[in-house]
Amino acid sequence: MTGLSPIIVPAGTPDPDPPRDRIADRVHMARAIRLAAQGLYTTEPNPRVGCVIVKDGVVVGEGWHRRAGGPHAEPIALAAAGDAARGATAYVSLEPCCHHGRTPPCTDALLAAGVARVVVAMTDPNPLVAGSGLDRLRAGGVAVDQGLLEAEARRLNPGFIKRMERGLPYVRVKLAASLDGRTAMASGESQWITAAAARRDVQYLRARSSAILTGVGTLLADDPSLNVRLSPTDLPGLGLDEAVRQPLRVVVDSRLRTPPTSRLLGLPGQTLIACLDPEADGLSSDNPETHLTAGPHLTPFPTASRDREPDQPISRELDRNGGPHARLEAMRERALRLEAAGAGILPVPPGPRGLDLETLLRYLARMEINEVLIEAGATLAGSALQAGLVDELVLYLAPHLMGDGGLGLFHLPGLERMGDRLALHVQDLRKIGPDLRITAVWGPCVLPPSGSPG
Ligand SMILES: NC(=O)c1ccc[n+]([C@@H]2O[C@H](COP(=O)([O-])OP(=O)(O)OC[C@H]3O[C@@H](n4cnc5c(N)ncnc54)[C@H](OP(=O)(O)O)[C@@H]3O)[C@@H](O)[C@H]2O)c1
Repeated sequence: MTGLSPIIVPAGTPDPDPPRDRIADRVHMARAIRLAAQGLYTTEPNPRVGCVIVKDGVVVGEGWHRRAGGPHAEPIALAAAGDAARGATAYVSLEPCCHHGRTPPCTDALLAAGVARVVVAMTDPNPLVAGSGLDRLRAGGVAVDQGLLEAEARRLNPGFIKRMERGLPYVRVKLAASLDGRTAMASGESQWITAAAARRDVQYLRARSSAILTGVGTLLADDPSLNVRLSPTDLPGLGLDEAVRQPLRVVVDSRLRTPPTSRLLGLPGQTLIACLDPEADGLSSDNPETHLTAGPHLTPFPTASRDREPDQPISRELDRNGGPHARLEAMRERALRLEAAGAGILPVPPGPRGLDLETLLRYLARMEINEVLIEAGATLAGSALQAGLVDELVLYLAPHLMGDGGLGLFHLPGLERMGDRLALHVQDLRKIGPDLRITAVWGPCVLPPSGSPG
C-alpha cells in the first residue's frame, strides 16, 4: 500500500495513563507523519494526513490521504486493520474530521471500529472541525491524546493551516542568484544562473505549490513557462498513469502588458492575470458599464467579453486624447485578447506598490490555494516581502559573481539604517549540485546591534 516497511514495537505493560512522550507513541506518530508526506504532491486543497493503527505494539494498519474526494487516512488504515482495530490505538497526524464533507466523518469510522485510544499530532484548524472531532471521540469513550510531534505535523501543511487560520496562503519566494546576490545581468539576462540540479530542485517546489506567481517584468524579460516538468515517476504518491498537476499560474500585471502569445498561455493548466481594477484605478467613469469585467469583482475568472455589447459606445469617441476612457477601452481590448488566448482576468484594487498583493492572495486562498511560490524579479519579490506576505525564502546561490551592475534580489526601498534590516532565520542550508540552497524564514534571529564592534 505504501511501500514502507512495518514497524514493530514490543508490547509493554498496559499503562492506564500513558505519558505523552512515550517512545512507542513517538515512533508511531513519526510514521503517521511520514505516511502523510506521501501526499505532498497530490492532496491539495486538502491537508496531507497519515494514520497508523497499533494493537499490542504491532502496526496492524496504516494509510494516508491521497486526493481530495478520495478516502481519508483513517478509513484506509482501519480497513487494513480489520477486526484488529478493536481496542487498538490510532495515531493520526491531524485531528479526525467529524463533519460530512466529500467523505463521511472519520470520527464515526474510528468509533464504529472500536478503537480504544486516538493520538493526534495537531487539532484541525478547519473551523468545521477545530477540536470537535476530539470531543466526539471522547464522548464515545475513546481516550484521546493530542500534541505529539505537533511541530513536525504542522510543517507538513503550512498552506492549509495558514489558509484556515488567517485566510491567506503560505507564500514562498524562490530566487536564484550569484554569490554576490545578483539575479540578472544589467541587460536583464538571467538564464541560467544555477546548474541543472538546482533547477530540477525548483521543479519539486513548483510541484507541491498550488499556484506560482510572477510579475509582468519577469514575464516580459524571460517569457517563462512556470510549469512542472516532472513525470509521475518523479513524484511520490502519483500513479504511473496519472497526470502531474499543474499549479495555477498567476501573473501580476497592472495594465495587462502580458502578450497573448506568452509561452505560459499555451501550456496545460490555468493562467490568471491579475490587473489593476480599472475603476479603483480611476480609469472608469461612474457608469457601471465601463467595468472591465462583468459580475462582482474577485469572482473566479471573470470574463471581460461577457459585458461588452458589440454596439456599446466606444469610450475612445469620448476621449480621443488618451485619457481615462481611451485607456480603459485599450485595457478592455487587451483583456479580450488575453481571454481569447486562455487567460482569466482578475481585477484587483491598487496597493502601495502596484496591485494590492494581500487582496490577491486572499482571493487565491478563497480559491483553496494553499501554497504559493513566487518566482518573480526584485520588484515583486521585494514588494511582497515589505507587505509582510512572505513566509519563506528559498535562495539558490551559484558559485559565480555577476558584478554590481546586475540586478539585486529584492527591491526594498526605505531600508537605510542597520536597524531597518529584515531579520531572517536560516532553517536549512544544503548543496544542490554545485550550488547552495538556503531556506530562511522569519523567526527568532539575533541581529548584532547596529554599530557594535565587529
Ligand atoms: N534570478 C532569478 O531567480 C529571477 C527570477 C525572476 C526574474 N528574474 C529577473 O528579474 C528581472 C525582472 O524583474 P522585475 O523586478 O523587473 O520584474 P517583476 O518583479 O517580475 O515584476 C514587477 C512588475 O510587476 C508589476 N506589479 C504589479 N503590482 C505590483 C506590486 N504590488 N509590487 C510589485 N510589482 C507589481 C509591476 O508592473 P506593472 O506596473 O506594469 O504592473 C512591476 O513592474 C528579469 O531580468 C528577470 O530575468 C530573475
